[in-house]
Amino acid sequence: MASAVSNLRASGNERFNKEAESWDSRPFVKEASRDAQKVLVEKLQSLNQQTSKAQVLEIGCGTGILSFLMAPHVERIVAIDAAQGMIDVLEKKLKASDAPKNIMPVAVLLEDPEDPQLPPADPAKPDGPRQKFDLILSHLVLHHIPDLEAVLHTMLGCLAPSGRVMLTDFEDFGSEARRFHPESKMDGVARHGIAAAWMAELMEKVGFVNVGVRPEWTMTKTVEKFAGEFGEKGQMQEGQGEKMEFPFVVCYGERAG
Ligand SMILES: C[S@@+](CC[C@H](N)C(=O)[O-])C[C@H]1O[C@@H](n2cnc3c(N)ncnc32)[C@H](O)[C@@H]1O
Repeated sequence: MASAVSNLRASGNERFNKEAESWDSRPFVKEASRDAQKVLVEKLQSLNQQTSKAQVLEIGCGTGILSFLMAPHVERIVAIDAAQGMIDVLEKKLKASDAPKNIMPVAVLLEDPEDPQLPPADPAKPDGPRQKFDLILSHLVLHHIPDLEAVLHTMLGCLAPSGRVMLTDFEDFGSEARRFHPESKMDGVARHGIAAAWMAELMEKVGFVNVGVRPEWTMTKTVEKFAGEFGEKGQMQEGQGEKMEFPFVVCYGERAG
């Protein structure tokens, strides 16, 4: 079976390294993180979660758009991404005087909850067991991961008892979902969104409890009218494309206490 590593090293990693510098200039990417943050904060509040002390891990943070938005609500975010280029941009953004001070960027393809690149549970024991988290986030990442079961196992291993995952991505609502990406950006796309019932079953199989995978909001995206319309670079020219609605799911699960 293809692993997350083979997929990212083969294609996605290269693509995201190339796209890192211009990532924040895409209005859709920023809007998607803003929508996700709003839904995540509301959901945490509805669960009566005191988030100000939460230790958070964001997997596939990219340039840290969601991490920046979540930072004021939590104690600390360890923001990881497999693409060094994305982490370089995040590190640059964190140097600004008004940037949050509680984001720790790490370039790593996380496969092992005890990966030495994660912070230690006890700073006095740098080689000791790694930190466990109250909340794991990942936004627009799951559809890039071929072996989701393996990554979910890793996430479960990174959670503190009673910790939770809240993973956001567009929904696989049928054959039209593949239009989310222009034809030239299919490299590194492992699936066309998340099929809610399938994902819930997978999360339960891995060992998450209180699982719920539901569409929580909808976004409008300009997509190709026909496959390849935006050309080799996937860049829309004036008069091209059409608007389409995409539902987004929150994949929720907890580690047993
Ligand atoms: C579509 S981008 C989304 C970035 C960011 N979450 C955002 O919405 O702006 C997907 C990111 O996930 C990262 N990624 C994919 N699989 C990963 C994995 N297993 N571990 C860490 N990062 C991963 C890629 O390097 C890429 O930067």
